Formats: sequence, C-alpha cells, structure tokens
Amino acid sequence: MSEPKKLFIKTYGCQMNVYDSERMSEALGGQGYVETKTPDDADMILLNTCHIREKAAEKVYSELGRFKGLKAEKPDLKIGVAGCVAQAEGEEIMRRQPLVDLVVGPQSYHRLPEMEAKTRAGEKALGTDFPEEDKFEKLKNRPKAKRGPTAFLTVQEGCDKFCAFCVVPYTRGAEVSRPADRIIREAHDLVERGVREITLLGQNVNAYHGAGPDGDMTLAGLIWELNKVDGLERIRFTTSHPNDMADDLIEAHGTCDKLMPYLHLPVQSGSDRILKRMNRSHTAESYLRLIERIRAARPDIVMSGDFIVGFPEETEEDFQATMDLVEEVKYGYAYSFKYSTRPGTPAAERAQVDPAAADDRLQRLQALITRHQREIQDGMVGRTVRVLFEKPGRLPGQMVGKSEYLHSVHVKGPEIAVGDLKEVRITESGANSLAGELL
Ligand code: SAH
Ligand code: SF4
Ligand code: F3S
Repeated sequence: MSEPKKLFIKTYGCQMNVYDSERMSEALGGQGYVETKTPDDADMILLNTCHIREKAAEKVYSELGRFKGLKAEKPDLKIGVAGCVAQAEGEEIMRRQPLVDLVVGPQSYHRLPEMEAKTRAGEKALGTDFPEEDKFEKLKNRPKAKRGPTAFLTVQEGCDKFCAFCVVPYTRGAEVSRPADRIIREAHDLVERGVREITLLGQNVNAYHGAGPDGDMTLAGLIWELNKVDGLERIRFTTSHPNDMADDLIEAHGTCDKLMPYLHLPVQSGSDRILKRMNRSHTAESYLRLIERIRAARPDIVMSGDFIVGFPEETEEDFQATMDLVEEVKYGYAYSFKYSTRPGTPAAERAQVDPAAADDRLQRLQALITRHQREIQDGMVGRTVRVLFEKPGRLPGQMVGKSEYLHSVHVKGPEIAVGDLKEVRITESGANSLAGELL
C-alpha cells in the first residue's frame, strides 16, 4: 500500500463545525488520508470556517495567505475551504485567494471525496448546493477506532427562524432533522468506541422532528430513546430556541436520568423592543416564565445563554433591560458578543450603534455575567458531583473532567482513568474551574 496522505484540518466556529470536521476527516480517510497536527507536512489543508461575525471570516483570509510559502515548496499541496464562509462566499474565495483548490459548503460534504479527486486531477472544485439528502449517511466511513469519552452528534441542522442579525439560515440552509434510527445507530457506534457522553447538536436542536417508527419524534422522544442505550451515561443538547422549548422536553429535565442539568437557552436581549426588531418572536417576560417552568422541573439546573449588545437602535434603556434580565436569571455561563454587521441580513441596513457605546455595554454585561458565573461555581464547594474524566491535568497525577453542570473539575488521583465517572467532593473554586477529591 502507498504511504498515506496527510490531512490538516483547522476548525473555527461552533460545535457543529467540530462534528463536521470529524466526518470530513473520516470521509477523506477513505481516500487514503490520515490526520496530522500541523500544516507543515500536510498534503491537504482544510479550513472549516465560521461566518457568524465579521472577524471570523477575516481570520480565514489571513490564515490562507500564510500558506503561500508552503504551497510554493510543495505544489501538490491542496488547500480547501469548508464551512459557513465557503457557503456564503463560494466563488469569491477562489477569486480572492488563488491558492485555494477546493471550496465546499456544509450541505455538500458528502461530495468531498469526489471533489478531492478532482483537485488531484489539477482542477478546482466548488460545491455549495443545498441537495435534499442526508449527507451524513453518504459521508459515513465508520471507523472503529477508540475515541475519547465525549462526542458531538448532529441531529438537526439549519434554521428557519431568520433572526435579523444572523447568517445561519443562509449558510446552513433550511431546518432539517435526521431520522431517529440513524441517530440511535450512530450513538451505539460511539458508545462501542468508548464514548460515555453525547451532546446532540443542532442550530435549533429543540425544533428536532426527525422521522421515528410512529411518525415524527420530538427531541424529548429522541432523548428517551437514547436514555435506553447501555453504556451511554450522559446526554446533553445544544443550541435551543426559547420558542421550541416544548413541555415534554421541560419535563424530561426532571425525569430523564441521563439528561444533564445544564441548558443553553439564548435570549439575545432583555428588551422587548429590541427582541421584536431582532425577529426573535419571544419577549423577556415569556423567556423568564419559561425558565421558571424549567427550574420547577429541575431546580438545580444551570442555565447558559447568548447575548448581543449594540444591536442597531439599541439604547441605554434597552441595554439596562438586558442587565435586569441577567440579574434575574443568573446564568452559570453566558456568551456575549458585540453586534457584528452581516451583509445580506435585515439588521445590516439599520442605524448602527456607536461602537464605543457598544464596547462599554459589552464590558458591563460581561462583568455582571462573570460575577454570577463565579457565584454559581463557588456555590459548588462542599457539594458532591459526578465527574466524567476526560484528560490528564497539568499537574502530575491530576485528572480533569466535567461535572453534570459542565464545570471543569480537577482531581488528584493516579488511579483515575480517562472515561471514568466518579463521585467527587468539591473543595475549591478557582478562576475557571473547580478542584475536588474522590469520595
Ligand atoms: N442557533 C443559536 C445560535 C446561533 S449563533 C440560537 O438561535 O441562539 C451563536 C450566537 O452568535 C448567537 O446566539 C448570537 O448571540 C451570536 N450572533 C449571531 N449573529 C451575530 C451577529 N451578527 N453579531 C454578533 N453576534 C451574533
Ligand atoms: Fe441564527 Fe436566530 Fe436561527 Fe439562532 S434562531 S441560528 S440566532 S437565525
Ligand atoms: Fe459559525 Fe456556521 Fe456555526 S456561521 S457558528 S460555523 S453554523
């Protein structure tokens, strides 16, 4: 057999890109590629890109420019761009950066092997269609190799919500759910390879409505099916939209033992005027009432969220409403971003907020979020949690894993192995993680 070719993949953006990169690596594995950790010895470089904010796309072009020297040394090196920038800018990338041999959007990944062959024949390959088929079924080249204890599994993709700031409905396309039996089979495969925790992914994961044995299944229905998978210990899902938080899903948080007490539920703003302008179709009040119901089902749940500050026309008063909402919810984690104008989205046309004011708001919001985050983390001291160990820590004999609530926990214990799930008493709360001892 000939020497394997080497593939270097760099992944930007959300968890779905992480999942997609794994699938692309497996698919190209079928073409004789093995992954390498550096671009220097690669025969193919793939950048799996994100378009969500302006800086994300600019990073891709500067990264591409840096491969010029490599390509000059090694004319056989193929350079590809995948992900949401590929979808949004397609041919523009080829024009702007002649080094690029291949551009593939998220809905065309099943064409990657054939596109790779085309580049080997010296041609450029462009794939940015939205075909009607389950690309993951076509992509599969199921390896049996062992892997780490946690994995992502995409169950739903795309979005029909069209929030006024967001590119996702354009880059990922319309909302599509994968059939339940394929997801369950994939979960079994992952468990056989050592996975004990699965995070179900979707841009609108709680809108899941994949085909099941008796008609469409809800996300809660799918979670209950996965709850039966022997050897799978934990189930998580992300990202949810408040409007799709169905009763059966809320209830599952109280009754499904493998479903973890952590929920990422972005709200974006606490001002009803801004939420309306964002086309979010929920209010601050309806969101707060929803969280009340979730907490009634699972009182210890840790909430997480996303926020945008400086959305067009946002006033100081609107921003205060966001601060008030954050005060009320108290997030265990929250991600906040300064609004970034995305060409082609409705909000791009509107009156923009002064960047200095937006920076100032972002700082104030992040300070408040950090304070809550720290309070919730500190509140874990003295409690007993279950930790799924993922890797060795920085100190000798130390292992790191995640609690049910997704906090990182460091534990000294040379007897602990990766993949162990153990009870830990929390003794300390540090800047970004907890420390504890085995019970
Ligand atoms: N599907 C998810 C997340 C989509 S993108 C949801 O509906 O919430 C992840 C986060 O990026 C969003 O929640 C939002 O807070 C942020 N984001 C999206 N577009 C943005 C933009 N144009 N500028 C700044 N932040 C943005
Ligand atoms: Fe973007 Fe809104 Fe869809 Fe989330 S729900 S992916 S923020 S359009
Ligand atoms: Fe980015 Fe696309 Fe994910 S724009 S956040 S990689 S869906």
